[in-house]
Amino acid sequence: MSVDLPRSDEMRPSRYIEKVSLITGETLDDEILPKQLLVRHHRDYHLVDIHARRMMSRVVRETGSPDEARRRMREVRRKGKKAAEVIAKLIGQSDVSKVSKALFGLKDKEYYFRFKKSPREEEDIHRQLTDLREEAGKQQAKLAEQDRLALRVLLTGGTGFVGKEIIWQAAYDDDIAEMIVVIRPRQIVDRKTGDVVRTVSPAERGERLLDRLWLEAPDVRSKFSFVEGDVEQPDLGIDPAVLEKLGPKVSHVVHCAASVAFDDPYEKSFRTNVLGTLNALRFSRALQSLPQSSFVAHVGIETSYIHGRKVTGLAREAQVVFPRNFYNNYYEATKAMASFETERFMLEEGLRVVQLCPAIVIGESRAGNNRGDAKVVNAPVNLFGRAQEALTSQEGSWMDRSKGAMLAKMACVFPADPTAELNLVPVDRVVAGILAALKTPAAVGERVHLAGDHRLTSHQIAQIVQEELGVKVKLAEPTLHRTVTLPIITKVLKKAKQEKIAHALDKLGTIFAGYSEWGQPIHQVGNDVRVLGLSKQRPNTEHVFRLLCRHNRFVQEFGRVRDLDEISRREKAWWDFMLGLEDETGMPVGAIPADKFHAMMADRLDTDSFTLLGSEEA
Ligand SMILES: NC(=O)c1ccc[n+]([C@@H]2O[C@H](COP(=O)([O-])OP(=O)(O)OC[C@H]3O[C@@H](n4cnc5c(N)ncnc54)[C@H](OP(=O)(O)O)[C@@H]3O)[C@@H](O)[C@H]2O)c1
Repeated sequence: MSVDLPRSDEMRPSRYIEKVSLITGETLDDEILPKQLLVRHHRDYHLVDIHARRMMSRVVRETGSPDEARRRMREVRRKGKKAAEVIAKLIGQSDVSKVSKALFGLKDKEYYFRFKKSPREEEDIHRQLTDLREEAGKQQAKLAEQDRLALRVLLTGGTGFVGKEIIWQAAYDDDIAEMIVVIRPRQIVDRKTGDVVRTVSPAERGERLLDRLWLEAPDVRSKFSFVEGDVEQPDLGIDPAVLEKLGPKVSHVVHCAASVAFDDPYEKSFRTNVLGTLNALRFSRALQSLPQSSFVAHVGIETSYIHGRKVTGLAREAQVVFPRNFYNNYYEATKAMASFETERFMLEEGLRVVQLCPAIVIGESRAGNNRGDAKVVNAPVNLFGRAQEALTSQEGSWMDRSKGAMLAKMACVFPADPTAELNLVPVDRVVAGILAALKTPAAVGERVHLAGDHRLTSHQIAQIVQEELGVKVKLAEPTLHRTVTLPIITKVLKKAKQEKIAHALDKLGTIFAGYSEWGQPIHQVGNDVRVLGLSKQRPNTEHVFRLLCRHNRFVQEFGRVRDLDEISRREKAWWDFMLGLEDETGMPVGAIPADKFHAMMADRLDTDSFTLLGSEEA
């Protein structure tokens, strides 16, 4: 067996994906290796390849038309192939592809991948989905108590970034009578010895979670209970005796747990994201078929990036096709496989399912609070903030300071094409969508993108970072940066004893490379409003990104404040300060320009003690 193949058969990509010949249209029997699903496997890093990408980016900037860039690229490739044919003839090489690969980095792919399709007819599927919606509606009607729904929701992933906001919003939602949160025990390990010092039980984790969410009132707290479990185990690892009691009363399962790491190996991502989802689906299927079942629907939290690198056309809500430009990482690929399983359960096993696909989730839309999340977009913002502070510290000799300033300039380079667009969405909008899905039987059978309708370009992001953090981030061509500049920068930083920053930059370069090239997917939106009834006005992405910068700078101190109790205390003061400011100015705080915001903050918040000025604690 190839070393690149997963150890267990159930993890093979060929369970979900098939290889199709471009020449004959036939499915090929070849084994599909996980690495073949990724963008980086199909890159040659050839000089001509790098040049072509730069040229396309320039065309997009000059003409504003990605289609024109693609047209010119096709023309260049056509000419490249012609030239390779002539040269091959001249040198007597019968295999033209060898010449084009050596000279121009051009690869002729003779196959493409596609997801295995359900053999069911469209009409038949449509009929089944209508039936599932009707059943969900009937089940929902049975739950109504007086003027509220009395939903009883089982949640996985409640200790995560999105999960915490679900708990927060559910606490104040009268239609949710009860929430059962599945939590795994957490082991505290001694960093030096690697020994387990203490195990925090799910019950204790849950209680601390409520404290950190400022949920103090007994009647609010009593809505929540915490059960031990692990999504990688059958029945979500829940004790059979607990399950027997819970089973008949659960109206919804919200499966939110996942491994959201862009650099995890395939098997790790697969275990949590695909096997975890399969366990959750089987669990819901069992609840749905209990004799006295209250079950309405399973709500799967996916990602709009299950569409991978889709350079042309919209990434449609209704349809997931294998991306012609592959996936950026195994997180995306395994989330797409999980979505495939979810759809299969719905069509083949009649499970009532809603699929929700958030874009890149960031802190909530009024204050930017994120409860300690430091993933995804937070990572580069925190890194640049820290690099700038560490390297331009006013301590030391003139020589040290100038060296620091020079290193900061080198560290604050981000591999991104100025035209690359990121789709950011605040966590409160995402969770408004999740809670709406619980109350909307008509959402069964739908896939809903929870995303913005206007995206920020890398250029805009760099501009906002400069205004908010005073960090001048230089955008570098991603491929050139990854292959040439980054190795040099990290070497210099390591020599200057800045190993941590060097390591973080290196990691960032690898993780973000795919997301910052031009031609990012454009996610169709509409079902959030049409199906879930969310407000038509989607959050202003520029404002929420400004809030992310302000929050991470002052509340998180660019990731240095890690203690979640302290984060919770600071976020409370921040929340009161930001909402006060919103009241006073009559505008969203994200709309207040950076310099004005900083001046207003100086009069109202003591950022050393993190207390409101004028309050008793200050
Ligand atoms: N964040 C984003 O930008 C984003 C964007 C689109 C979609 N999503 C999706 O939204 C969902 C939540 O993401 P997030 O940002 O909240 O992730 P997160 O902060 O990393 O939280 C992950 C959650 O999953 C739990 N979990 C992981 N493995 C588990 C296991 N084996 N058993 C039980 N629980 C387990 C974690 O529990 P522990 O506390 O025990 O580790 C944690 O509660 C995911 O499905 C993700 O794919 C996120």
